[in-house]
Amino acid sequence: MEIMEQRFSILARLFETGQISLEEISALLLIPRQDVELLLVTQGILKTKTLLVGGGAGFIGSNFIHHILEKYPQYRVINYDKLTYAGNLENLRNVEKDPRYMFVQGDIADTETVEKIIKDHNVEAIVNFAAESHVGRSVMFRADEFVRTNVLGVHSLLEAVKRNAGQVKTYLQISTDETYGTLSLTDTAKFTEDTGFTPNVPYAAAKAGGDLLCRAYFRSYEVPVIVTHCSNNYGPYQHPEKLIPNSLFRALRNQPIMLHGAGQHVRDWIYVRDHCEALDCILQKGKPGEVYNIGSDNEKTTYEIAKIILSILGKPESLITLVPDRPGNDLRYSIDTTKIREELGWEPKQSFEEGIAKTIQWYQHNIDWVERIREKDKEFSKYI
Ligand SMILES: NC(=O)c1ccc[n+]([C@@H]2O[C@H](COP(=O)([O-])OP(=O)(O)OC[C@H]3O[C@@H](n4cnc5c(N)ncnc54)[C@H](O)[C@@H]3O)[C@@H](O)[C@H]2O)c1
Repeated sequence: MEIMEQRFSILARLFETGQISLEEISALLLIPRQDVELLLVTQGILKTKTLLVGGGAGFIGSNFIHHILEKYPQYRVINYDKLTYAGNLENLRNVEKDPRYMFVQGDIADTETVEKIIKDHNVEAIVNFAAESHVGRSVMFRADEFVRTNVLGVHSLLEAVKRNAGQVKTYLQISTDETYGTLSLTDTAKFTEDTGFTPNVPYAAAKAGGDLLCRAYFRSYEVPVIVTHCSNNYGPYQHPEKLIPNSLFRALRNQPIMLHGAGQHVRDWIYVRDHCEALDCILQKGKPGEVYNIGSDNEKTTYEIAKIILSILGKPESLITLVPDRPGNDLRYSIDTTKIREELGWEPKQSFEEGIAKTIQWYQHNIDWVERIREKDKEFSKYI
């Protein structure tokens, strides 16, 4: 034991002077990286960091908070969320008593409150997931809320960071591949970080507006902004208005799965925890002013997705029902992820087969979670 303590204290000193990494200590002592971090935090060698997570009660935001709290003992997370119909604190039930986690209900468009949180809690980084995120709602109804949150809300956060220059080291804006517009079904090209924005739906146009403000705030004021464009996510805690949970839920009840057009639309599906790891990697190693694409090289048509779900559940393909296409429905997204792979060393870990099986299992075990959302969100049935 004493020898172990001596070895740790030597390694801790090397860590303090930047001569060894957490991973190397973990490999040398044969203990998990998290335990190394915890020991370093306890000894005051590793400082605590506070992250402000905008929209942390939604699908990806809540998965990201789980990821951060599981991985980093030294991180504090403030979840700042307006709790729109898409925000659900149930997603965070198992961390709500963690002293490293705090929830504040608020709007990202409220610059003063965000600034107060930044100052009061010494926030070092902001990761913004907060958005109106449902394409169908943005097309079928007025997109006022999309513009308010996805453009003005992002502007408000950028202002708050600008006013606290020096303290907030990173502002990470979570965006989407939908800002790039569409590819044709036969196109072999992929979206790169240099692809121009040609959004086709109000949701994507509003996201592009927020992204462009990020660029401008970096250029004009050196606000340390990084923007990411990720492809379609799937996994636990996704609101059942979205394709995979919606299809799953309907199939479980032997109800028809509705697909737009001929079900030919192609999306690149990434498991949500792979997306969270990519964001974590960018937070640690990404460069301010840069843009990173995130994807999984896993392109599937919506028809294929429905067939996979039905086959895993042992339900007939006759449940697939084609309905008229939605206006502005992009045909295909395809993401080139060379930059994040080569510059930051990230790559997705989850195969689609495993990821979808885990996701289906999660929804089967948490069907009451879906039911409660349906109960709360009376608008729900209009979109399905
Ligand atoms: N889901 C995907 O497949 C996907 C893919 C790529 C990028 N994205 C982006 O990732 C982000 C998160 O997506 P998601 O699917 O988790 O969305 P979501 O709809 O599940 O969650 C959005 C969250 O933001 C909160 N919110 C909305 N307006 C707010 C405001 N004004 N102030 C504070 N909080 C507010 C909601 O309450 C909710 O908790 C979005 O910005 C989206 O554009 C999503």
